[in-house]
Amino acid sequence: MKKIFSTILAGITVFFFCFMTASCSNSNEKCLVMATDADFPPFEYLDENRNIVGFDVEVAEAVSEKLGMTLKIESIAFDDIIDEIENGKYDFGMAGLTVNEERKAQVMFSDTYATGIQSIVVKDGSEYTELDDFFDGFDESGNPIAAKTNITIGVQKGTTGDTYASAEPVDWGFGEENVNKYDTGEKAIQSLAEGKVTAVIIDSEPAKSFVDKYAGLKILETPYANESYAICVNKKNTELLGKINNALDELKTDGKLEEIYNKYIAR
Ligand code: ARG
Repeated sequence: MKKIFSTILAGITVFFFCFMTASCSNSNEKCLVMATDADFPPFEYLDENRNIVGFDVEVAEAVSEKLGMTLKIESIAFDDIIDEIENGKYDFGMAGLTVNEERKAQVMFSDTYATGIQSIVVKDGSEYTELDDFFDGFDESGNPIAAKTNITIGVQKGTTGDTYASAEPVDWGFGEENVNKYDTGEKAIQSLAEGKVTAVIIDSEPAKSFVDKYAGLKILETPYANESYAICVNKKNTELLGKINNALDELKTDGKLEEIYNKYIAR
């Protein structure tokens, strides 16, 4: 009995240890651990068997294969990805991650492997039909003076959509006080479907996936911002970054990147 108990205890310890260190199960195995937030279809999401799948996952698998390493993936809060890469907890972050100056202060980015657009999602029949509708008056250079008083914008916390939306109206933001921040993009979308927010700012591909999933929503034609996606690594890891860039280059020339793109994005 005591033996069974200690075996179970050892099992539990190993289980938690794996989660705490985000490392390979076997120390001889050469593996790369990727941090993502698997709630962002078609880039990373859970399939019916709760496996993490998607465009980013297949690109990461192809990169790891070129590097001769085994890929492990962990899904964490989106808001923690950049910090955890900076802390060295994971080898790289890949999550439909937009390259921006603020993040470059903490991590290094690979070459771009895809582009994205920040879209505005509203309810069908919404009185808001273009970006200008969310603002009240424009100055002589055409920048908004104020956001409409009765709007609430939903975003996923810590995303670039959050940063843009939370900015002041002169910078085409809606003001921090008008932004509701959710743990996942899908929660923001659910909130819109329930009529709790006026609009959601989210990347265009997840926007399309969620509009297909939740009835009564649509994407406005006015794009909110254009962006580039890349893989991020710890600033000390120049060697890994070089290898990732070489692998991405090969995937671009041998057509594999396009094949994965066609499977998940150009559907
Ligand atoms: N592109 C946006 C950003 O980098 C949103 C990415 C969200 N990704 C995710 N897996 N939830 O901030």
